[in-house]
Amino acid sequence: MTFPRIEALAVTVLVVVTGVASGQAQAQADKGQQVFAAQKCSICHSVAGEGNKKGPLDGVGAKLSAAEVRQWITNAPEMAAKAKSERKPPMKAFAALPKDELDALVAYVESLKK
Ligand code: HEC
Repeated sequence: MTFPRIEALAVTVLVVVTGVASGQAQAQADKGQQVFAAQKCSICHSVAGEGNKKGPLDGVGAKLSAAEVRQWITNAPEMAAKAKSERKPPMKAFAALPKDELDALVAYVESLKK
C-alpha cells in the first residue's frame, strides 16, 4: 500500500508549510516592533509595561482587526473621532510610512493579543 506514505508526506508538507508561515509572521511582527520603536509610539503607548502607561496596547490585537489598526496608524484623527477619544495629546496620522514598514507595524500590533 502506498497510501500511508503519501499521507506521511502530506503531513510533512503541511507541518513545513505551517512552520514557515508562522516563522514569517513572527519575523514580520519582529520587524514591526522595530518600527514601533523607531516611530516612538511608546511616547504615548505602552506594551507589557514599557512606555506610556496611559495608552496600553496590550490586547489591542484581540480588540481591533488588522484593518482597524491600519486605519489608526494611517488616519488616527478620523479613528479618534469615531472612537470619541478625548485623550490628549491626540495621535497624529503616520501617513508617510513605507508600505513594508506599515505592514510590519500592523502585524506587530495585531500580535498583541493579551
Ligand atoms: C502623541 C501621542 C501618540 C503617539 C505618538 C501614538 N499614538 Fe496611538 N493613540 C494615541 C491616542 C491619544 C489614542 C486614542 C486612545 C484612547 O483614546 O484611548 C491612540 C490610539 C491608538 C490605537 C487604538 C487603541 C485602541 O485601544 O483602540 C492604536 C492601535 C495606536 N494608537 C497605535 C499607535 C502606533 C502603532 C503608534 C506609532 C506609530 C502610535 N499609536 C503613536 C496617541 C498616540
